[in-house]
Amino acid sequence: MDETIREIESTESESDKPPSTTPRPIRAWRVAVIANVKGETELPMDGPADAGAEFDRKETIQEIQSAIESDGHTTVFIPADANLPFALAHIRPDICFNLSEGIYGDAREAQIPALLELFRIPYTASRVLTNAIALDKTMTKRIWRDKGLPTAAFQEFLRGDEPLADDLEFPMFIKPASEGTGMGMDAGSIVYDEKSLRTRINWVIQNYHQPALVEEYLPGREFTVAVMGREDAARFSPRPSIYEADGFHRFPLLEVDSSSSVTPGIYGHSAKTLHTGDADVPQFICPASVKEPLASSLQDLAIKAHKAINALDVSRVDIRLDKNGVPCLMEINTLPGMTRGFSDLCVIAEADHWNYREIILEILYLGASRYGMIMPRDKTARGIPVQIPDFVPLMQNQRHSR
Ligand SMILES: Nc1ncnc2c1ncn2[C@@H]1O[C@H](COP(=O)(O)OP(=O)(O)O)[C@@H](O)[C@H]1O
Ligand SMILES: [Mg+2]
Repeated sequence: MDETIREIESTESESDKPPSTTPRPIRAWRVAVIANVKGETELPMDGPADAGAEFDRKETIQEIQSAIESDGHTTVFIPADANLPFALAHIRPDICFNLSEGIYGDAREAQIPALLELFRIPYTASRVLTNAIALDKTMTKRIWRDKGLPTAAFQEFLRGDEPLADDLEFPMFIKPASEGTGMGMDAGSIVYDEKSLRTRINWVIQNYHQPALVEEYLPGREFTVAVMGREDAARFSPRPSIYEADGFHRFPLLEVDSSSSVTPGIYGHSAKTLHTGDADVPQFICPASVKEPLASSLQDLAIKAHKAINALDVSRVDIRLDKNGVPCLMEINTLPGMTRGFSDLCVIAEADHWNYREIILEILYLGASRYGMIMPRDKTARGIPVQIPDFVPLMQNQRHSR
């Protein structure tokens, strides 16, 4: 094997045992789990102190592999780095379970999906354009605003001395436009006057090498809402009854109360690295105590936010109430963290009595169904028409047109 290919083959022996789900995959698959691993993926030299915070732990990858193998498939881990094309050519997976955060560039979360589409290899969750948009919080908010969905008033700054829009009111909140895991967010993110606003904008631009997103500060309760499903999810899912008529499952709501946390009022980077039981950890309440009609409006808003950017199968939407108690969209995570017992999506699904295996397999089978890899329950009806891709081997003799 080429030495440049770093891969960890599953210890499970190859098996033709058909998976246990119904509707069934036609045969067992070779599934590649693609991710950036903490401590293994090389970080950019000029990155901020919290660079790489979104990368996965090795144990998480192994748990995902075990969950997939438990249903009869074989798995292989492939690091999401520049060796990926060679590894794909060598391994030839039937489908990829994508967790890749990417390393460089303004659309880094979309790079692996883009490569997989180039090679016509099926993969899970959202596609290229959606992952690129979701990584860019300003672009996402522009789309939501265009669709009439509520989100805090905002302005993006490419430089610290741009004129401030008159319609923005203090206090304001400043964040890097394209990060996650609370990166670049701490007590200094809330500003009450223009001088500190400009200092903080400059700090974000210099440290994160990207625009600063300035929003009105939302002082109300904070929720994160897990979204799972698709209009035709029940036709392909092993658990069709979990989906409502619109094709989406309603998980319980998770409330994050950061009022007495390490960064009071902000679920920022330090708060996101703490575990339950640590000092100054925010309170995570799931199921959150939310009365109607707020509970339904949070669920519906999250699904609308997900659909507005054509997200597929799974996401997590962060929402806060404004000073009048109106839910406002903050951001959407189309590649939500998957650390068992820790990541918000997993905590929410576990509170809904899903085990880890069920979460992983649901994402895998919803993804696979988009490529015709699973026969629908009602074989004659048509789902999202996506052809079964053939693997296009790399570096084969290709004919060029002028
Ligand atoms: N406009 C805002 N008003 C109040 N708090 C905010 C605002 N935007 C972000 N926050 C706080 O910062 C946290 C992280 O922001 P978010 O946009 O969700 O970034 P990340 O991708 O890092 O999770 C939120 O969970 C919330 O506590
Ligand atoms: Mg968030």
